[in-house]
Amino acid sequence: MTTTDAASPPVVTSYWAGQHVPGAAGSFSSTNPARLDEVVADVQLASADQLVEAFRAAKAAQPAWAATPAPVRGRVIAQIGRLVEANAEALAQLVVREVGKPLAEARGEVQEIADTCDFFLGEGRRLYGQTVPSEMRDKQLFTFRVPVGVAGIITAGNFPVAVPSWYLVPALLCGNAVVWKPADYAAALGDALTRLFVAGGLPEGVLNTVQADGPTTFDGLAQALEQGLVDKVGFTGSSEVGARIGELCGRHLQNPCLELGGKNPLVVMPDADLDLAAEGALFSGFGTAGQRCTSLGVAIVHEDVHDAFLDKLLTRLAGSTLGDPAQDVLYGPMLSERFLQGFEKWLGEVQPHHTVHGPTGRITSDNPRTGFVGDPDAGAYAHPVVVSGVRPDDALYRNETFGPLVPVMRFSTFDEAVELANGHGYGLSSAIYTASAQSAFRFRERVSAGMLSVNNSTSGAEAHLPFGGNGKSGNGSRQSGVWVLDQFTRWQSMNWDYAGKLQKAQMDTEAGAAEAGADPGFRL
Ligand code: UN1
Repeated sequence: MTTTDAASPPVVTSYWAGQHVPGAAGSFSSTNPARLDEVVADVQLASADQLVEAFRAAKAAQPAWAATPAPVRGRVIAQIGRLVEANAEALAQLVVREVGKPLAEARGEVQEIADTCDFFLGEGRRLYGQTVPSEMRDKQLFTFRVPVGVAGIITAGNFPVAVPSWYLVPALLCGNAVVWKPADYAAALGDALTRLFVAGGLPEGVLNTVQADGPTTFDGLAQALEQGLVDKVGFTGSSEVGARIGELCGRHLQNPCLELGGKNPLVVMPDADLDLAAEGALFSGFGTAGQRCTSLGVAIVHEDVHDAFLDKLLTRLAGSTLGDPAQDVLYGPMLSERFLQGFEKWLGEVQPHHTVHGPTGRITSDNPRTGFVGDPDAGAYAHPVVVSGVRPDDALYRNETFGPLVPVMRFSTFDEAVELANGHGYGLSSAIYTASAQSAFRFRERVSAGMLSVNNSTSGAEAHLPFGGNGKSGNGSRQSGVWVLDQFTRWQSMNWDYAGKLQKAQMDTEAGAAEAGADPGFRL
């Protein structure tokens, strides 16, 4: 980022091959969603050709980085983690300013980067392969993890720094070079994180960040794949765009890492602690203004406790403070004006058979929210919406609505609850509230989600468990912990025959020797 004078906002450019590069495709203003007239950064957008150029820089830098001993790469990750901690408050404040997360959540998000670095710095001294016995004497088998090469990473702005770190940290640790495309509405954060990573000691060209809009990124990525400059794509975003990226990569015989939408069910069994369930529903339904991919997508409540649960949820919601994200609020603005507009469209899917609890739409001084802190007219704020009476055919059940909206459904049998938990076709996160181990484990067996919470909300996964989904939520790829290593390395096998003669596998083995000493007719 180049800061000009105090009156004008900072200018953010792309960065590749160790240089800040002016964009050739116009500019974009990243604004503070809590004060829409405040420009956080003037973003210079790169063209598709420039994106290809960044991939070329990554490709040139990657072999030397891969040849750097993994423990040394691990030390660079350690240094990045320390820098993130030393700059935590400044980064968290920028998260508040550019995407409107409440400060406590923003601090948690920055913590998630440090946690990710903590995990992977040690992986630099592991990255284990195996020694494997051979069928034959005088021969040894081995496996090695090999970096994939150049990774193209495209991320969303709802977790503008934590989720990118889930890709960048393991990709870099494993010896890959990266081209990262942050969300345009989180460009200043993309730039800040890049500068922290570079200050950690990454050589030129190993991490390259391109500021570009979505369609340009798609074109540039298609060209770079065509030219053989990309070996792995990682994408976090909508299921719709994820499907297009999957198609594009498939044409190049590549298997991208896709982390897509969710419609995360929270099942409330009749034996649940209803206060705990309502607290979990409040946090996962409305925290981050419902804009996590792990946000609560549908509450599925047993008919015996439906009214009591709803009552507890609505009471908690009514008592929650919304507004200025710099203050202690349940949630602040939507990520940007565009996200508010996208969310408002879903309100048009409310049907006559639904009951909507409370006011809906944009929070303004004419459509106020009791207890709101700050100036609602200045930002992109949405009323929280709880809709009960939702049925399986409703659009509000079938789609991710990405905003502060919780549909509530009722069930009578466990089978019905499972059917509703899976019926929308997403499969990212899920939760069940119950006192019964039997219900919890039966739900685990049958829920299609990649992640399951018992007596905990759908959001808030820890940074070292496998993270990812199935169905419309992803292609089965997993991030975080040791599991992500399979995204950024490929297994190579090696055999070494020191017999000094050709030994043919399956043919020159001693399989017969075991049988020779056996007496298959033996009985006690
Ligand atoms: C996302 O919304 O893309 O589990 C990631 C959670 C966070 C990460 C969410 N740790 O809610």
